[in-house]
Amino acid sequence: MSTPPPGRSSRELYARRSLKAIAARWDARADSWDRALDDPDCHLNDDDAYRRFIREARRLIARRRPFCALHGVIDAGCGTGLVLAEVISSFAWGIGIDISPRMIRVARARRLGKAKFIVGDCFQLPSLCPKAGAIFSRGVLLSHYGREQGGDILNAARAALAPGGFLVIDFLNEAARTRQRHAPEDKNWFTGEEIQSMARRAGFAAARVLGKPDRRALLLLAKT
Ligand SMILES: C[S@@+](CC[C@H](N)C(=O)[O-])C[C@H]1O[C@@H](n2cnc3c(N)ncnc32)[C@H](O)[C@@H]1O
Repeated sequence: MSTPPPGRSSRELYARRSLKAIAARWDARADSWDRALDDPDCHLNDDDAYRRFIREARRLIARRRPFCALHGVIDAGCGTGLVLAEVISSFAWGIGIDISPRMIRVARARRLGKAKFIVGDCFQLPSLCPKAGAIFSRGVLLSHYGREQGGDILNAARAALAPGGFLVIDFLNEAARTRQRHAPEDKNWFTGEEIQSMARRAGFAAARVLGKPDRRALLLLAKT
């Protein structure tokens, strides 16, 4: 990641929700993002996180085929649209949202059928999209934004879901923190219990953590 402006740590930028500065940092990574994820040695692939997310997403969709086919899907913090590209065929429509205009530019170049990509803030999801059957968010946004704002993200996601809809969002796993080669201090690590109670406080009727307890990143599955 690019160096934050002097005096502003990454944690501070997220804690203050300085969206312009956050977007500028992701803009700088947009052109190399897909290449970085293609590199098995890149820290983004630590613990096979990306492929595990996609496998889990497909498994959850497979159990809800008719529901998904009738509803839309939102990819929150979509970056270059990798997750949306993997799941869109199972849904009626798809929207990818990201605050980084450059990430969105790369995503649009995919020319995904049934999908559109918009520059926007995932804290504002309900005002940006129609209600969706599913929201996927990969890239540990909860761990970037922290506890309080993480609660706001979950609230926004819940309000953007149709009845019966579900959210899948990843987070850094406190229980596995000390075992990691790449364990950034400036991110927020959550226990499974903590993330489930955040989801319930945000109004989700059910919340469950997916993934083995020793994984670097785990997935929250939350249902309306
Ligand atoms: C780790 S990247 C993940 C990108 C993509 N989901 C993937 O899996 O390849 C996190 C993304 O979240 C976006 N992001 C950060 N804060 C956001 C916000 N408030 N609203 C929307 N997108 C945001 C960043 O611009 C960045 O593209």
